[in-house]
Amino acid sequence: MSTPTDTHRMEKIVSLCKRRGFIFQSSEIYGGLNGLWDYGPLGVELKRNLKNYWWRVMVHERDDVVGMDGSILMNRAVWKASGHEDTFSDPMVDCRVCKTRMRADQVIEKKGARQCPNCGSKDLTEPRPFHLMFKTYVGATEDESSITYLRPETAQSIFVQFKNVLEVSRKKLPFGIAQIGKAFRNEINPRNFTFRSREFEQMELEYFCRPEQGMELLEYWKEERLKFYENIGISRANLHVRNVPNEERAFYSKGTYDIEYDFPFGRQELEGVAYRTDYDLSQHQKASGKSLEYFDEETKQRFIPHVVEPSAGVDRTVLALICEAYSEDEAPDEKGKMEARIVLRFHPRVAPIKCAVFPLLKNRESLVVKAKEIVELLRPHMYVFYDESGAIGRRYRRQDEIGTPFGVTVDFETLGEKDSSLLNTVTLRERDSMKQERVKISDLLELLSVRIA
Ligand code: GAP
Repeated sequence: MSTPTDTHRMEKIVSLCKRRGFIFQSSEIYGGLNGLWDYGPLGVELKRNLKNYWWRVMVHERDDVVGMDGSILMNRAVWKASGHEDTFSDPMVDCRVCKTRMRADQVIEKKGARQCPNCGSKDLTEPRPFHLMFKTYVGATEDESSITYLRPETAQSIFVQFKNVLEVSRKKLPFGIAQIGKAFRNEINPRNFTFRSREFEQMELEYFCRPEQGMELLEYWKEERLKFYENIGISRANLHVRNVPNEERAFYSKGTYDIEYDFPFGRQELEGVAYRTDYDLSQHQKASGKSLEYFDEETKQRFIPHVVEPSAGVDRTVLALICEAYSEDEAPDEKGKMEARIVLRFHPRVAPIKCAVFPLLKNRESLVVKAKEIVELLRPHMYVFYDESGAIGRRYRRQDEIGTPFGVTVDFETLGEKDSSLLNTVTLRERDSMKQERVKISDLLELLSVRIA
C-alpha cells in the first residue's frame, strides 16, 4: 500500500536540516557529490544518541549479545563466498535517445515493446549488470590480485569472525553479535535526501540459533524492533510491517519482514528483519575450509547455526526521527501575540541538546554567574547549551526549532530578590506543552535525568 506524499513538507525539512546544522551536502563548496552527506553539529549528536540507544538496548541490556567492530576492507574472498561479487548488482538499461539510465524494472512495456519512461523512445540497450560495490585496490599495485571492495553491509565481518567471537565470549545458542558501522553502495539512483545514499551506516545484529528456533525468533525480533522505534519516539501508526513475499526474498531466506515508515515521500523501508538460515556461515565454511560449526555440549551435536538478522539503517532512522519530529504550531511572542513556530518534537532520549540554560538578562552578572553554575552542574550528565543573547522568547524559539526538550531560565526570583522563598529556584520550560514549572536548582539534575533516560 502506498501513502500520499508531501513534497512541500519534505522541502521544509531539508531546508531546516541545512539551516540549523543537521545535515549538509558532502563537498558542497565543490558542487557536492551525489548520494553523499555530512552531519553537522546537531546531526552528529542526534545520530550518536540513536546509535548509543541501539547499543544499550541490543547489547548492554542483554545477556545474550556481544558487540564487535570489523574493518571496512576485507579479503576479496569474503565477497566471493557471500555471493556479493557475482550477484550484488542491479540490471540497468540506457535510453540511446535521452541518455537516461534506469533500472530494468523501470522500463515501460507497451504492446510488447519496451519504452523509455522519460522520453518514450523504444531505442533502449539490453539490461546490463551495474555493480553496487565500490571496487578498490589494496597495496602498491593496481592489478587483479589486489582488488577488494568497500563493504556493502557490516554483516559479513560478523559471519567471518563468528568462531573467534564464540570462543572468547563463551556464549551458548541462541546468542547474537552486534555491530554498527559504515557501508557503501554505488546506488544508481540516490534519492530522497539521505534515504538512499552511497555511504551510510548500519546497525546490525546477527542472532545465531538452532534451526528449529529460526521462525520463532524472526517473530520475536520483529516485535523487539518495533518496540525500539516506539521507544525513540516514532509513533506506531507510522510504522508498518511488510511480510516480504517469496519471489522478492533472497533464495536462502525462509522469512523476511521489512519495517517501513511513512516518510513524507512515501512508505519506505527502515529496517529488514531476515531469517537467513545457515547460508552465510555455510558459504564461508565451504570457501575458507575452516569449520564454523557449533558444538552443543549437552547433545554432543555439531552443526552450523542458523541466523536471524535485524538490520537497520542509521541514516534512514535519523531521517525518520526528523520527519516524525517536525511540526509547526503557534506560540506567544514577547507581547503575548501568537506567532508561527517550528518545533522538532524529538523524544528527549534522542534530542541533540537536552537542556538549554538562559540567564534572563546578559548584563546582570549575578544572573549570568548563577546560569553558568547550572551549566556546570548539568554538563557532566547531559549535553547542555548556554545562551544569553536576545529576548527570552527568541531564545526559546531557537531551541524549539532544534528540538531541545527543556529550557532553564535564571531570573530575579532565582536570586531571591522578590520573594526569599524562591531563592535558588528556576523556571523549567517544557518544549512541547510550553508549560513552565518552578523547581529548585538542587532538584534539577534528578528531574532532568529521569526524563532523558
Ligand atoms: N545485511 C543485510 C542488509 O544489508 P539491506 O536490506 O540491504 O540488508 C539493511 O540493508 C538496511 O540498511 C536497510 O533497511 C536500510 O535501512 C539500510 N540501507 C540499505 N541501503 C541503504 C542506502 N543506500 N542508503 C541508506 N541506507 C541504506
